[in-house]
Amino acid sequence: MTIFSKSENETIQSGKRFAKDLQSGHIIALIGELGSGKTAFTRGICRAFGCEDQISSPTFTIINAYEGSVVLFHVDTYRLEKKDSEKIRGIYDLMNKKNCIVIIEWAERLCNPLPPHWQVQFSIDSQNMNRRKIQIDWLEK
Ligand SMILES: Nc1ncnc2c1ncn2[C@@H]1O[C@H](COP(=O)(O)OP(=O)(O)O)[C@@H](O)[C@H]1O
Ligand SMILES: [Mg+2]
Repeated sequence: MTIFSKSENETIQSGKRFAKDLQSGHIIALIGELGSGKTAFTRGICRAFGCEDQISSPTFTIINAYEGSVVLFHVDTYRLEKKDSEKIRGIYDLMNKKNCIVIIEWAERLCNPLPPHWQVQFSIDSQNMNRRKIQIDWLEK
């Protein structure tokens, strides 16, 4: 599925709509450069499940947990390094849990293969800085 967004709010709404396809046990890998809308999209997903509104990238904490009608983990691997092996293991452990949803920004930085997951790719339009292409696919490898 491909979505075009013209504003941050449209990206949030896209995340909210996409959340209808989600259930506990799902993993969502968010791929896209800095500022492409990964956190905005996550905010929409969190809203759909009634989780708290003040979502920010867990760039330094690596993992944030939210509880609404489901338990949701929001992971940001941007600052993860190879030496953080315990944290990396923790992320894979989360992905094996069936009672939560795991959203991962910069998922391409994890080197081991992910279990079946949603991949959401964000690209910024080179002609218009406020436009985003959002490509959503279910991947099973
Ligand atoms: N269509 C759009 N969708 C999402 N964000 C947009 C859009 N247009 C402009 N922006 C801006 O781009 C930035 C996206 O930030 P964020 O969601 O934190 O990105 P990321 O988590 O990918 O680094 C915000 O500052 C937002 O206001
Ligand atoms: Mg972010």
